[in-house]
Amino acid sequence: MPKALAQIHKNIRNWYQKHGRLDLPWRNTHEAYHIYLSEVMLQQTQVKTVLERYYIPFIERFPTLKILGEAPLDEVLKMWEGLGYYNRAKNLHLTARLTEALPHEIDKLIKLPGIGKNTAHALAAFAFGQPVPIMEANVKRILCRLHRLENPGEKQLWQIAERMLDRLNPFDYNQAMMDIGATVCLPKNPKCEICPLVDLCEGKKNPDLYPAKRKRVAPLKTQNILVRVRENKLALIQRKTKLLHGLWGFESIDTPPPASNCIGEVSHAYTHFKLQCKIFVHNEYSTGQRFYFNSKEIKKLAISKIDEKILKLFLLQCEKD
Ligand code: ADE
Repeated sequence: MPKALAQIHKNIRNWYQKHGRLDLPWRNTHEAYHIYLSEVMLQQTQVKTVLERYYIPFIERFPTLKILGEAPLDEVLKMWEGLGYYNRAKNLHLTARLTEALPHEIDKLIKLPGIGKNTAHALAAFAFGQPVPIMEANVKRILCRLHRLENPGEKQLWQIAERMLDRLNPFDYNQAMMDIGATVCLPKNPKCEICPLVDLCEGKKNPDLYPAKRKRVAPLKTQNILVRVRENKLALIQRKTKLLHGLWGFESIDTPPPASNCIGEVSHAYTHFKLQCKIFVHNEYSTGQRFYFNSKEIKKLAISKIDEKILKLFLLQCEKD
């Protein structure tokens, strides 16, 4: 190994011991399922949210992969409520149904639902101590800056990550890289003066240039939503669409019924688009084939963020009337 790299590994180790987030609960366990759960929760969600509201309650409710696999999906979705990207919960549940113990081999891990290369590597390194690198968003940014890469391909990034890895300390090295990305090599105003990688960094003069920013405007989708009210209960449907499959929510309609009343709009930003909904309320006198719930019952169901916003708007309107 080049001397410079050995020195960088030492810097990273020292930095991690002093400044790393050593007390994160998933860094203080050898239980592969708990580490797996943390990696899935952290895929699109910040540490703070996972830590404050989701990780511990989920483990308390489903302490083992076996117990998770035996639970109904509705209950799993309920514990996931508000975390978003519900496919993560469904894949986690599917994996729990397929196996009671996670395999150690990366090629076997990748075959499980919802486990991509990065999650497989994170599991291999964090749960099974294997010398493999990880590649989450913060690490990508570091590697781009180190090598002044504006738009690197995945393959190139993985090759760089493999070369840089501290093979003797894959756990601390990978956790440290994420922490350096989250607290030092920030997207804006990185703190290069305190970075343990600064001697190696080719991009430190102009870190903002790497990686190049993608200019993407999220497309706007619009929907009409109908809140059907009957004897103080609201009609909800269980979604079958890809996006929020399995969650309960209000019905989307093409044309609102003539006797309905528009109470306002709510919107929610998803990763690839923004959804803007116009909310109509309609009083019903026959049930049809629908399921109606009172507010206590709704609290027990897993509903998405946008439906939560719709419910809030509806309740606010009721207070005014
Ligand atoms: N994001 C993904 N994995 C993580 C971890 N182990 N610690 C902090 N953030 C993460």
